[in-house]
Amino acid sequence: MDAKPIDQLTEDEAKAEIARLSDVLTQANAAYHRDDAPELTDADYDAFKRRNAAIEDRFPDLKCADSPTDQIGAAPAEGFGKVTHEQRMLSLGNAFDEADVTEFDQSIRKYLGWPEDQSLSYTAEPKIDGLSLALRYEYGVLVQAATRGDGSVGENVTANARTVADIPETLTDAPDLLEVRGEVYMSHADFASLNERQSRAGAKTFANPRNAAAGSLRQLDASVTRARPLRFFAYAWGVTSAPLADTQFAAIERLSELGFSTNPLTQICDTPDAILAHYHRIEADRAELGYDIDGVVYKVNDLTLQGRLGYRSTTPRWAIAHKFPAELAWTRLERIEIQVGRTGALSPVARLVPVTVGGVVVSNATLHNEDYIAGRDAKGGMIRDGRDIRAGDLVQVYRAGDVIPKIADVDLSQRPTDAVTYDFPTLCPECGSEARREEGDAVRRCSGGLICPAQAVEKLKHFVSRAAFDIEGLGVKQVEQFHSDGWIKEPADIFTLRERYSDGLQQLKNRDGWGEKSAANLFNAIDDRRQIPLNRMIFALGLRHVGESASALLARHYGDWEHLSDAVAAAAPLEGTAWDDLLGIDGVGAVMAGSLVTSLTQEAERASIDRLIAHLDIQPIAALAQSDSPVAGKVVVFTGTLEKMTRAEAKARAEALGAKVSGSVSAKTDILVAGPGAGSKAKKAAELGVETLDEDGWLTLINALPTGE
Ligand code: IVH
Repeated sequence: MDAKPIDQLTEDEAKAEIARLSDVLTQANAAYHRDDAPELTDADYDAFKRRNAAIEDRFPDLKCADSPTDQIGAAPAEGFGKVTHEQRMLSLGNAFDEADVTEFDQSIRKYLGWPEDQSLSYTAEPKIDGLSLALRYEYGVLVQAATRGDGSVGENVTANARTVADIPETLTDAPDLLEVRGEVYMSHADFASLNERQSRAGAKTFANPRNAAAGSLRQLDASVTRARPLRFFAYAWGVTSAPLADTQFAAIERLSELGFSTNPLTQICDTPDAILAHYHRIEADRAELGYDIDGVVYKVNDLTLQGRLGYRSTTPRWAIAHKFPAELAWTRLERIEIQVGRTGALSPVARLVPVTVGGVVVSNATLHNEDYIAGRDAKGGMIRDGRDIRAGDLVQVYRAGDVIPKIADVDLSQRPTDAVTYDFPTLCPECGSEARREEGDAVRRCSGGLICPAQAVEKLKHFVSRAAFDIEGLGVKQVEQFHSDGWIKEPADIFTLRERYSDGLQQLKNRDGWGEKSAANLFNAIDDRRQIPLNRMIFALGLRHVGESASALLARHYGDWEHLSDAVAAAAPLEGTAWDDLLGIDGVGAVMAGSLVTSLTQEAERASIDRLIAHLDIQPIAALAQSDSPVAGKVVVFTGTLEKMTRAEAKARAEALGAKVSGSVSAKTDILVAGPGAGSKAKKAAELGVETLDEDGWLTLINALPTGE
């Protein structure tokens, strides 16, 4: 290194030099630890590191929180270890206005069969804009901290969590096993000073406190996390060996007594009106809190009721997040571009003059579809009083939470005189195939199917995404590269990469960003995924309307690929028993079922799926979480009046225990639960010799006879 002697550097030069060295060392670390492909000799690496430390010594103010000097030890090559959550970490449903809140209260009452005049209390507390963390304490000692990840599997960030001052290392008088859940966040003041330190040192700054908190917690080196001022609010719990309390509010008080920070704005509200009043109080205080919140969370206070209400596939029935209105800003729309998605949808995207909306720089926003641009809704009615959107317009952009920014409005008084109406393409801009719009569909779609390169590549990206095959080393960039080289055209090709390129290692190694070790790792990572759980497999196919939770529902209902496949084939006429069975799955509607059936029976698509399956060992899914329950796998029919719970609750509980609830009695029915007024179904069950129980008999069987009755 023939660089300028340190004692001759001006402060500006030192700053530039620290930034350069930080880049060199970061890249060297990645090459060494992540890719196992060192780019520097040990001696050069040490010399760079020493020079960096010496400059920091002379100019201590320039030292950034992420300084390579403080990074000790080797980062684990594969990043964080994985942690499977014993109880899934779910998200919350959203309410956007007061009507949604009333509807939330009504739907809970309906589910529980709870009349209007019976009081129902909720807690209301700020929704912290950070990232959720699960802390596991065994015999009062913190043994593990995990991020939420995909809800089932998160990352092990124990060492990092131990550096957060709000997170106690030990607890006194806690249950032997206690998992505390809450939000890691960064205060406005700490965020501002972190960014200032970073920028003084020429290091990367963060767009908002949430990103700063996430980036700081997910550091492979805990000493970096230690230098970042993170905080933690406890607001929930996972597994516990003993209940914390009888109510949500008391449980939070207990967490506070155990030494956790809990949010002081948490309050009990006895009516929807009281809830809304508290929402407005929190909203009014928002700017003064000193940390970001993006709404107010309401939870049913009584924990027994929470237990009865249970969960939908990804959200609890007993809680909801009431979001604050979106943040807005005005900017120029430079041009409209079309992106083709994995299902062929042509999505218009607004390219904007960058503008800050609620602390985040936005340069793209979705325009939804052609009607939206034209100022019409799907039914031909007017939106924005019929104002259309054109390139050159001054438009209003908004963001709500993490979702893609949208365009809300256009200011016609600012429209350039030469602006022209946007003509939505009728040919796919990627493959030239006709782009058709079907009756009743707001979206125009490319008809090119598998020949459309955009659809193919989007399908592949989805296939390797985190909730799907999640192949380490095969991300968006690599998929694009392999696709454009013609190495991978469809998912099945991923699994023949190694054999088609027997010298593939050699070929990969010679490309940008690949070393011998990373290429070998990729082939191994692909092999690791030849075994795949059924739900991930379904989701990975990227079928329209079949998202992650629908895939889980289908997987749990059908158990294995063969059953699913046969059932879908049998449902192809879109009527009959197999079709009814599909629609009978709680959470599956006609649109999703139709899409599933059409996609899996469409010839080219099916052939592509079959080519894929030949390389896979698809893991069956146990009927439901509690497959050891007495009713797991049984087909149950409810008829007549239920007196202890509503039909919806009875059905959800039975399903949670692994039973399949059907609407009609047949030879396949295992149990008929008949309340007063049961008619023809009871008669048919008797004829067929189906076991018939009354409501108490059923509750005894599932061990759920309400106490005191
Ligand atoms: S309760 C079963 N309470 O919001 C649901 N979540 O949108 C348990 N969050 O993943 C979550 N503040 O990361 C709850 N006071 C609060 C919260 C809160 C922020 C986050 C949490 C969750 C996300 C859902």
